[in-house]
This record gives sequence, C-alpha cells and structure tokens, in this order.
Amino acid sequence: PDTVSLKPGAATNVLKYHAKLLKGPTTTLTYMPSYLGPTLNFVRGQKVRIIAYNDLPEQTVAHWHGLHVPQKMDGHPMYAINPGERYIYEFEIKNPAGTNWYHAHTHEKTATQVYQGLAGLITISDEQEQKLALPSDEYDLPIVIQDRRFTADNQLQYLQHGRRERILGFLGDTILINGQINRTIPVKTRAYRLRLLNGSNSRIYKLGWEDGTPLTAIGTDGALLEKPETFPYIMLAPAERVELWVDFSGREVGSDLILQSLEYHGVMPHMGGGMRGGMGMMRGGLAQGSKFPLVKFHIAEKTSESPQLPAQLVKFQRLTDRDVANPDKPIQIGLSMIHMSPKLNHRSFEMLAVAEWEKVPVNTIQKIRIYQEEHGMHGGGRRGMGRMEDDADGMEGRGGRRGGRGGMMEMAHPIHLHEQQFQILSRSIKDSHGSGYATVKDGFINNGWKDTVLVMPGEEVMIIKPFQDYTGLYLYHCHNLEHEDMGMMRNFLVS
Ligand code: C2O
Ligand code: CU
Ligand code: CU
Repeated sequence: PDTVSLKPGAATNVLKYHAKLLKGPTTTLTYMPSYLGPTLNFVRGQKVRIIAYNDLPEQTVAHWHGLHVPQKMDGHPMYAINPGERYIYEFEIKNPAGTNWYHAHTHEKTATQVYQGLAGLITISDEQEQKLALPSDEYDLPIVIQDRRFTADNQLQYLQHGRRERILGFLGDTILINGQINRTIPVKTRAYRLRLLNGSNSRIYKLGWEDGTPLTAIGTDGALLEKPETFPYIMLAPAERVELWVDFSGREVGSDLILQSLEYHGVMPHMGGGMRGGMGMMRGGLAQGSKFPLVKFHIAEKTSESPQLPAQLVKFQRLTDRDVANPDKPIQIGLSMIHMSPKLNHRSFEMLAVAEWEKVPVNTIQKIRIYQEEHGMHGGGRRGMGRMEDDADGMEGRGGRRGGRGGMMEMAHPIHLHEQQFQILSRSIKDSHGSGYATVKDGFINNGWKDTVLVMPGEEVMIIKPFQDYTGLYLYHCHNLEHEDMGMMRNFLVS
C-alpha cells in the first residue's frame, strides 16, 4: 500500500489512484498533495481513455460519479476487476461544465475503499462557461470535505462499534480538506470559485460562513446554475457538490474567514421504539449535526483586480410534467430501515436483477417519487409497488416498535441516481417532522441539475430525470456508503 503524511508523525497507509498522462494537455491532471486521486480536468466533447490497473489485494471498479456514460463505463460492481487486472474506460465527455468526482464502487466494499482513499475530483469545462470568465487557476479551488478517524499511530480507523455504528453510517472525528487536516488556505482580496464536494461516507454538512455572510452558489451537483443564488447556509450531503462564489475583497489583510458546519437536527433516526439516546451520539467525536470548523481562509495579500459575479450563468430549461412520460404515475422509490436493514422499496441490492418498476424505456424522461416510508403505528403506507413481499418483515417491525430494539426507523438518506442528472420538482415534509426540518430546509438548492438529493425523515421529493442515449443497468442507491454496502441499492434497466 501507499503511505502519505496526513498528520504529523507516522505516515498513513492508504489506497491511492495513480495517473500518468499519455497524451493531451498537462492541465488534464492536477495532483492533490494527499491520498486523493489526481483531479481530472476535462473539456466537454473530449474523448477520454483511462486505463485502471488494480494493484490492490482485492477487487475494485471505478465509477465516474455524475458523468453521462455508457453502462460498461459506469463502474457497475459487475465490472469489478481482480487484483492484477486492468479495465479500459473510454467515453466522451457529454456533461456541461461543473464539478463531478470518481470513486470505487466495489460490491460491499465501496465504503471501505473510498474511506481509504479511492476517490478524486473531476472538473469539466465548456464554451459557455469559458465565456463567463469565472475565477480560474489559482482562484478556482477544490474543497473536498471528508471526516476520518485515526489510530494513535496515524492509521485510518474505520467502523469499530459494529452494526449500530454501521447503520448510522461512519462518522469521523477529524475533518480533512483535500486530504489534509487543519487546512488554512491563503487567499487574496478578490473573488474565488470554490468547488466543494462532500466526499464523506455519511456525514452531512451544513455549510455557513463564520461571520454570517450569506453563501453565493453558482453551481450544484452537475452544472452551473442559471444564475447565482444566495443562501443563509447550504446543506451538503455525501456525494453532493456545490460551487460557491466567494469574494474576499474588502476584507482586511491578516484576517481569517472560517467555513463552518452549523448545527442542525432531525436527520438521525426517529425511532418507533427504544434506541433513543445513544443513536445520534458519537462517542467522543463529532456528532452528526454539531457545529465545527471546516476550513480557514486566511486573507494574505491585497489585490485590486477582481472579476465581477455574472448576473446570468448558463441556460437552464426547467422540466415540468409536460416533458415526462409518466406525469400521473411516478416511479416510486420508498426508503425504509426495518431491523437496521436499509432498503429501497423493501428490497436489497441484487447484482443484475430488476423489478418491474425498475424498467425504463430509453430516451424518455421520467418522474420519480422518492419518499420515506411511513413508520406510523398501523404500518400505513405499506400499499403500492414493491411493498407487498416482505410482510413478515413488516410484522416484526411493528412488534419491534413496541419492543424497543429493531423495528422501523427513519433517518436522512442522500439518494443518488446514476446516469443523467435530474431536476427537483417538489419537496414536501410531514408536519410531524417540521421542527428538525426547519433547521435544514433553507439550505437545499432546488434549481439546478442534481444527481444526489438528501431525503429527510418524513420527506418526499419529486424529481424529473432523463434516461437518454444509453441502455443497460444503471444504479440508484443511498450514498451513505455504509447503507450502500448494506444493500440500499438497486438497478434501473434502461432499454
Ligand atoms: Cu457516487 Cu453509485 O455513486
Ligand atoms: Cu454515481
Ligand atoms: Cu441511507
């Protein structure tokens, strides 16, 4: 294995993507001074060939998260390669300018492989974006946020508290920015473009500037926004990206501005039965939803030139019911966790299988309803697609709610759909969940292209997603990587 110095002291064993450029401009690769893979800088329309060599002692496969690519290039776990083998990825960059990423997607090993380092950033640029003259080069900063935990001798430490910790998802006590701890980034008194990626396994960040300055978003998961939008704070769930415009001009040289994660509530299990205390708590670490600093910007140098924030960014066509094949019959994706087993429509991952409702005709645009299953006293919401087969499970669930342990519980799930990006049509929350929701709701970016959406307990999100150009099996899953590896993942068959 490779070693890198993530902390002072002993070097840390990590997994690392290597890359060498065979052809094309050297700006195609930039190296992170850490265990993250190199940043791949692509241009729309470019054809790329990436040869992945598996030097690990176990299987692996690479997924290009956010990219619109043929099935064989998408890193489905069925294409995992053995130690010593290689896989040639070849595709054309069809996505618009924006920030994407790549990571391992190995069957039941995604969480551990990403945790140990198998992830990296992808930037895409295009003509439309270039005309905007956004801050570039040293003023265009990647900010990959991950939480990790270390042993006394600096080795990455993964889950240690068994199934309970797994079901909530791993939460570390040390924040890494671009793979480094205690990051301070020196900046000049001018505007910057920040590309933030939540590369954590399960931690959800509520981004906010320490001094209360609103955040200006210019891009979301898949692309630039139509126009800049400001938010008091922005929620960033695992796998989500946001591009921020931040202007340090007018700030005093020598001062600091800290980007924080702010306090919020309501994402952790909402239990029918016992298991209260304990569940949302981290032993001696950072609880999900607590407040802590992420990265410090140090105003180091004065400059007088700074670009202006464009009033308009890119063209955006809002999709509506008129564009979809199934306006009245959305595809249903019900999220549930019964007996600590997170599922989609009460099903677990099957490598190649698809259910009837997972068959989607190619070159259609579909409406999809993603919702948290009811966990009321009468097992309500158990009607409809995909929810009939494991009634036994449901019965136990109801018993479990009375008995305490087990049963059904609700927590927030960042749901990711492979292939083309989608738009959010609407969100609605049950009254019973209103108080936690109030602490996060103003931080959702709903006006842009997305590939991952955080579905809060008690929430239902309606999305519109194109399935164009390519046929085959495409995954959808929870991007809480522990949930993904526990089987909260399914296939769409596009044909
Ligand atoms: Cu970022 Cu299916 O993954
Ligand atoms: Cu993906
Ligand atoms: Cu989940």
